[in-house]
Amino acid sequence: MVDLQNNVFMIPGPVKIHPRVLQAMAVPVMGHRTKDFRKIHKELRELLQYLFKTQNDVALFSGSGTAGLDAVMGSLLDKGEKAVVVVNGKFGERLYELAEFYAQGIPAKADYGRAVDLSELKDLVEREKPKVVALCHNETSTGFTNPAEKIAKIAKDSGALFVLDGITSVGGIPVETDKWEVDAVIFGSQKCVAAPAGLAGVAVSEEAKKHLHDHRSYYLHLRKHLDKYREANDTPYTPAIPLFLAMLEALRMIKEEGLENRIAHTRALAEATRAAVKALDLELLPEKGYESNTVTAIRYPEGIDDAKFRSIMWNKHGVLVAGGQSVVKGKIFRIGHMGVCTFTDLLATFGAVEATFMELGYPVEKGASTGAVAERMKDA
Ligand SMILES: Cc1ncc(COP(=O)(O)O)c(C=O)c1O
Repeated sequence: MVDLQNNVFMIPGPVKIHPRVLQAMAVPVMGHRTKDFRKIHKELRELLQYLFKTQNDVALFSGSGTAGLDAVMGSLLDKGEKAVVVVNGKFGERLYELAEFYAQGIPAKADYGRAVDLSELKDLVEREKPKVVALCHNETSTGFTNPAEKIAKIAKDSGALFVLDGITSVGGIPVETDKWEVDAVIFGSQKCVAAPAGLAGVAVSEEAKKHLHDHRSYYLHLRKHLDKYREANDTPYTPAIPLFLAMLEALRMIKEEGLENRIAHTRALAEATRAAVKALDLELLPEKGYESNTVTAIRYPEGIDDAKFRSIMWNKHGVLVAGGQSVVKGKIFRIGHMGVCTFTDLLATFGAVEATFMELGYPVEKGASTGAVAERMKDA
């Protein structure tokens, strides 16, 4: 039986939560319209700006990452307006669906795990003159990181607003909100920040605020949330109080560690993961040069059944990894290594991968992948 209290949790979100963050929620209930809670909001606001690397307005929505995407896309777009959306994975598809839901989406497509051609994207943006260019920075579905800075430049050069789904990049992969002039960026609490699921953070530029459509959603009303946070250190409606407390502690931990150090640690884990994959003669899904540092997507070797593999990993070894989604379902497994993930977690994961492959009859050189992790662990 899997021990639900004690296991190795390696999916690309929700991720393992540090006891400090869990304990932050174990306090008597607090009133949210109080001076004490406004102090919490004020500190949260400052830490969110630190995380996003921005002076822009920020807000925290009580809802998963998609609530943040919905608030942004729904507030920026209306019928008759266009959004060019990069689509090269499941979450690019979701952004495109949002664009279509609220306005007209124009996809700039590449296969899952492949890069879009940037000169074709530039031509498309210049031809269509969209109000918004939207990008999923880190495609969690394929372990692929899109070149956000270059795509931001294409958007800004054309006069479009640039929207970035940073749900699995903010806090794990560099995101320079102000430097790249990102007009709206979103993250999800259960990813690189390593807080519980249920909050979506957004940062929105002054330029984007000039173009918001009010009255698009009563609850996910972007301007109302941004203004209330800036002017009163408050939220328009009751916030998910325990989650806000957990978020505060998770962000304090990032500040103490230093954002750049957290990002460097995440990169070191990613490099060790890729070295372990190579040592097992396995292949990555994403195109070379675009491999994500927060989630690694690995192709199964011939003959390995996805359901059997993940069932042994979890039920026998207590290691949870994710499968593939959509067109790569059954073809890959994914390891998340963001947030407070450690080298020790990675060692356990690859120990279990080797044991599971052996059990399923796939030949492995014993200790090849754990050795590759240990090699990098010693220099970390
Ligand atoms: C890149 C990306 N965008 C959007 C989402 C959707 O976020 P949520 O499930 O928190 O609504 C996810 C979730 O995995 C994601 O990884």
